[in-house]
Amino acid sequence: MQDIDLKQYIRGIPDFPKPGILFYDISTLLRNADAWQLATARMAHAVAPWQPDQLAAIESRGFLTAAPLSTRLGCGLIMLRKPGKLPGETISLTYDLEYGSDSLHIQADAIRPGQKVVVTDDLLATGGTLAASVALLRKAGANVVGASVLIELTALRGRDKLDIPVHTLLSYD
Ligand code: PRP
Ligand code: MG
Repeated sequence: MQDIDLKQYIRGIPDFPKPGILFYDISTLLRNADAWQLATARMAHAVAPWQPDQLAAIESRGFLTAAPLSTRLGCGLIMLRKPGKLPGETISLTYDLEYGSDSLHIQADAIRPGQKVVVTDDLLATGGTLAASVALLRKAGANVVGASVLIELTALRGRDKLDIPVHTLLSYD
């Protein structure tokens, strides 16, 4: 299993969710116990040198990568959530999408000032979501030391929006 190419467990679904979009479906990776074990092990191996205090998980598919990574690394997990989901005082950040805008929230007391945080998501596409997450984490006092994503769509150059090191498990043009 160690030298397996994990791309064979990801399927491309044309015209989802809109015509012209090729959707990389991670469901087929998640449902294969050995492949998913290997994927999370490889991601954890790459993130470990950053020695994060916390993993920040971007709702919703980022929760899938954050949970196994945080337990493998032995660090905490913080949820970055869509509006109206987190109890107590929150800090928020609104960011632009192709059409309209979206917001992410974090609990105001989630991070001790200067804590080292790695943010994780399933996908880096345009980079808007990850860039907003980094900005929100900084607003909450975090020292964001890196990002870890399962899939990067390199042609969209989302990485250019980020000023932190990014580890991606699988890249597609
Ligand atoms: C998808 C994906 C990333 C984001 C990447 O999330 O899970 O979070 O888009 O796109 P970007 O780099 O262009 O910002 P989506 O908003 O579809 O929601 P979900 O995670 O709740 O499925
Ligand atoms: Mg998402």
